[in-house]
Amino acid sequence: MLIQTGAIPVWVDSNLEDYTVDIEDLNRKISKEIKAIVAIDLFGHVCNYDKILKIASSFNIPVIQDAAQSFGSKFNNKITGSYSDITCFSFRPAKNLYCMGDGGGVVSKNETFINQIKMSCDHGRTDKYVHEFIGWNMRLDAIQANIMNKLIVHIDEFNKMRRSIAQIYDENLKTDTFVKTKNYCENSYYQYTIRVKNRDKIICKLRDNGINTGVQWPISLHQQPAIKSKYNLPNAEKIQSEILSIPCYPYLQEDELNYVIENINKII
Ligand SMILES: Cc1ncc(COP(=O)(O)O)c(C=O)c1O
Repeated sequence: MLIQTGAIPVWVDSNLEDYTVDIEDLNRKISKEIKAIVAIDLFGHVCNYDKILKIASSFNIPVIQDAAQSFGSKFNNKITGSYSDITCFSFRPAKNLYCMGDGGGVVSKNETFINQIKMSCDHGRTDKYVHEFIGWNMRLDAIQANIMNKLIVHIDEFNKMRRSIAQIYDENLKTDTFVKTKNYCENSYYQYTIRVKNRDKIICKLRDNGINTGVQWPISLHQQPAIKSKYNLPNAEKIQSEILSIPCYPYLQEDELNYVIENINKII
């Protein structure tokens, strides 16, 4: 979508600790040409916004936080959605807060941004019969919104359950390649990930034992056929070849969790 607006992305690498923005690479690539920083939170872990907001403010540009994977996470005790210039959420099924179809949301304290976004989501409409510019149809379906209204009251409880599952994994898995949450982050664990070398074999063995895993993502954005960039992002490429998400959702039962841990410890 960013590219559809005519913007040309400058791709920044991930860091190898929490897989979010590599601040050193951002510092190398930031310039007066850059119009905004899009910071992507990953698996529930937020980026280092102290550093990102400082860099953005020194160039007088906004930070757009992609919080599709960090609904309910906190940065320095501040809830996602409360500190960046614009924060974007995805409410697809499987997200921490989800609907039963497609849905998303944007928050900002800046009224100009919000008005522009509202119009963009409604075919560039400024009045009932007036379209000021070419936009999209991205209106949130009322049925999906109602489903989320019912779920949102449970989100803190769900995220707490995810955090306790993550803690049990941290303490009991034989590997230490899981994400160590930074002290500025309260992680909502959209996913619990580890890094493994012989991933395909491990996926098959776990599947044979009835345990499904996920790889998000085997191909980074800069390598997608639709993007065709010539960028070389060594950390992102290493992460994509080793990352593995293991079951982590609020109602994972204790015996299921122990079964997953037992199997992973046997296999890795
Ligand atoms: C980090 C991230 N950004 C953006 C998106 C896109 O969200 P949507 O498909 O709701 O537009 C996703 C969806 O999975 C995501 O995980």
